[in-house]
Amino acid sequence: MELIREASALRQATDAVRADGATVGFVATMGALHDGHRALLRAARDRTDRVVVSIFVNPMQFDDPDDLARYPRDETRDLSMCKAEGAAVVWAPPVDEVYPLGVELAHPEPGEVGDLYEGAARPGHFAGVLLVVHRLFDVVGPCTAFFGEKDAQQLFLVRRMIEREPELDVAVVGCPTQREPDGLARSSRNAALTPDEREQAACLFLALTEAAERARAGVRDANTIVAVMAREIGATPLARLDYAAVVDEASFEPIGVLDRPARAIVAARFPSARLIDNIALPEPAR
Ligand code: PAF
Repeated sequence: MELIREASALRQATDAVRADGATVGFVATMGALHDGHRALLRAARDRTDRVVVSIFVNPMQFDDPDDLARYPRDETRDLSMCKAEGAAVVWAPPVDEVYPLGVELAHPEPGEVGDLYEGAARPGHFAGVLLVVHRLFDVVGPCTAFFGEKDAQQLFLVRRMIEREPELDVAVVGCPTQREPDGLARSSRNAALTPDEREQAACLFLALTEAAERARAGVRDANTIVAVMAREIGATPLARLDYAAVVDEASFEPIGVLDRPARAIVAARFPSARLIDNIALPEPAR
C-alpha cells in the first residue's frame, strides 16, 4: 500500500491506474476508522480494481473549533486498517494540499436542503462537506465513490452535486449503515460516550425501528411516526432530542403523508456526543 501526501502525486497514481484500463474505487474519510469504514473499503474492493482512501479531517465542515480539536486522530491505526482491507493507496494530505493558497476552488451550493436537520444544527456544515468532497473528487479523478448511508443527508447532497456536475465523472454508491449488536450505528463519535450514555444510545435505533414497524403496519401519517420517535428518545434520560423527521427520499424534504419512498431520520445529544441515524421506511405489509 502506498501512502501519498501531495495532491499531484495522488493524481499521477490514479491516472496510472486508469491508463492501465483498471477502475478506481474511492473512500473519503476523516480517519478514526471503524467497522463502518471497513464495510466501505470492502464494498470498494469488491466493485473496483484499486481502492484509494483519503484521510483528511476537513476543518471547513466544523462550525465549532472545540469539536474540530476533539475529533479523534490515529493515523497509524488507520493505515493498518486500510492495509488489512486491501487499499492500494492512502492519501493523507496536509491542509494546504487540499486547500492550496491562491487556487480558486469550486464551492458547490448545498441549497435549501443544506439548511435543514444537520445543516440547521451545524451551520455551514454541508457547504464545507461539498467543498471538500468536490476537491477530493477533482484530485482523484474519474472513480466510483463509496459513502455510508448513516450520513443520509450528506449522501443525498453528494449525489445531487454529482447529478449537477456530470463532468466530475464519479459514480456514487451508498453502503448500508453498520451497527453494533444493540443497533447503535457505528460512528467515530461513539468512542466519546460514557458507559451509561453508550447503553442508552441504542434509543436512536429503537426509535427508528418503531417508526419502521408503524409504517409496515400501515400508518401513513408522518406526524404520528415522528411522535413515536420523539417519545422513544424523549424517554431516554441522558438523550436530548435534536430532531426526528420523515423525509422524501427523492428530495430530502419533510413529508406529511407516506405516499412515496420515505426515510425516518433522528439526531440526539448526549452529554459527551451528538448522534444521528436514519432508516428507510417500508411499504405497508400486504
Ligand atoms: O463523512 C465523512 O467522514 C466526511 O464528511 C467526508 C465525506 C469524508 C468529508 O470530509
